[in-house]
Amino acid sequence: MIRLNRFIALAGVASRRQADLLIQQGKVNVNGRIVSELGFQVNPETDSVTVNGRRLTAVTRVEHWILHKPPGYLTTVRDPLGRPTVMDLLPQLNLRVYPVGRLDYDTSGLLFFTNDGDLAFALTHPRHLVEKVYLATVKGIPTIDKLRKLAAGIILEDGLTAPAKIGIASVKSGNAIVKLTIHEGRKRQVKRMMAAVGHPVLQLQRIALGPLELGDLPVGAWRQPTQAELLELEKLKQYSEKEK
Ligand code: URA
Repeated sequence: MIRLNRFIALAGVASRRQADLLIQQGKVNVNGRIVSELGFQVNPETDSVTVNGRRLTAVTRVEHWILHKPPGYLTTVRDPLGRPTVMDLLPQLNLRVYPVGRLDYDTSGLLFFTNDGDLAFALTHPRHLVEKVYLATVKGIPTIDKLRKLAAGIILEDGLTAPAKIGIASVKSGNAIVKLTIHEGRKRQVKRMMAAVGHPVLQLQRIALGPLELGDLPVGAWRQPTQAELLELEKLKQYSEKEK
């Protein structure tokens, strides 16, 4: 059973607060009867809910999407200036999923979306040390010494970075592609780390987030997590709930 206002919100018709207003105004009908009681509970599987005479179907399912974000899109649900956002790339769904974490406008790679707030929390809480893996094309080729410094932690204007895993994946036209694994999620962290050792990032791609991998998902395409990935996400969530 869930609260009626939540059911209406899950149908994408109104926010919970707006749903309360609709309920108070006598515009909501459950199984043929007007319900004006706030806090009324419904069974989303069996009860029939109508608002202004329109039958609603609430999306009570948990939804997850993995997107290969191209550069040139903002990681936000809505942009007041009307610029392209990552939401433009998801299938048109009647549900609210939110991006978990953020990739810069010019960064590409794996972006995860969910409507499961507990999972989003589990993936982003700093204590959970969820690893993010990046491929950064940088200017020049960092020396071993610089890589060691980055791995140990370097001082940025917002403090010392946590230990990271770092190595050179390949070299192309005198520039290195550096593979970095970090578990912090500070703003523009990879770019600031590389710039701090004199190797500014030319191109950045995230290839993994916790148990999720980008693989060969084409740029701009999305997929749903596999069963194995779902299992790992569930483990993370349970671990996070135990910690509370
Ligand atoms: N680090 C950055 O600098 N940018 C991103 O988009 C992600 C990590």
